[in-house]
Amino acid sequence: MPPEKLEIFKSLEGWAQENILVHLKPVEKCWQPQDFLPEPESEGFYEQVKELKERSKGIPDDYFVVLVGDMITEEALPTYQTILNTLDGIQDETGASCTSWATWTRAWTAEENRHGDLLNKYLYLSGRVDMKQIEKTIQYLIGSGMDPKMENNPYLGFIYTSFQERATFISHGNTARLAKDHGDLKLSQICGTIASDEKRHEIAYTKIVKKLFEIDPNDTILALANMMKKNISMPAHLMYDGQDDDLFQHYSAIAQRLGVYTAKDYADILEFLCQRWNVKNLTGLSGEGSRAQDFVCGLPPRIRRLEERAQMWAKQASMIPFSWVFNREINV
Ligand SMILES: [Fe+2]
Ligand SMILES: [Fe+2]
Repeated sequence: MPPEKLEIFKSLEGWAQENILVHLKPVEKCWQPQDFLPEPESEGFYEQVKELKERSKGIPDDYFVVLVGDMITEEALPTYQTILNTLDGIQDETGASCTSWATWTRAWTAEENRHGDLLNKYLYLSGRVDMKQIEKTIQYLIGSGMDPKMENNPYLGFIYTSFQERATFISHGNTARLAKDHGDLKLSQICGTIASDEKRHEIAYTKIVKKLFEIDPNDTILALANMMKKNISMPAHLMYDGQDDDLFQHYSAIAQRLGVYTAKDYADILEFLCQRWNVKNLTGLSGEGSRAQDFVCGLPPRIRRLEERAQMWAKQASMIPFSWVFNREINV
């Protein structure tokens, strides 16, 4: 990034302290995974585990596949922290740097870390899934990393994180709703609690991008168009369990079928963000900036049309074995 752009992030230090760090929750006020899980120290531990297993019996395998995929996505957190620290002007220079940006990234990571922990422990105790296969998938995924095409550019980085926080807010919200439908209120509460963290993170990241639109509308709209042209790749798209080369496609097909996360959500998220950032009414843009603005504003209806056509041509459903549920076959 050119030096004058780096300056922007330096000059926003104080702003970030007052406007972004306030969206973190003090550790003492945070929920922890243990708040939702059987208490290993208590006499009633085995009884509580039995109840948890009982409740999970009403939940079908396809739901578990989606929940496992969501959990694995959360568990690849080291990758996301690494990516944030590739961004010029905001990265954590030492590992314990005191800038607002580095402080945010570390505390954000620490908050996120509870998501994978809680889902992992719940799934382990449920006895419904093949933990060893899941653990292998996580190890493969963290080992393969990912390149979301941010080019070390924090404009692209914060647009991507805004998108992703909203996407996870939606998908955890939907797994909460479905768990309730299946009669597991505890699991519903678990997913809903995680969703509310994602919402808080979405508010923080979208606020940063809103600020960038205020002080540098032209480069910010160019960054948004750039990110959307590349497609927002899903964080866990390189997942592999040692068996299924199309594991991510199969998992996303089920998420789509169950309505946990769909192509329509992708278009809705973009539309939501455009509204939040008032993209339609940006003024004072260069010719290139105006073209980027038109492109972005026209994109949600285009994505929806493409999606409808893809649905029409969608191949017939097939049964695919998932190692995460002991190779039982699931309708994809
Ligand atoms: Fe998360
Ligand atoms: Fe998140």
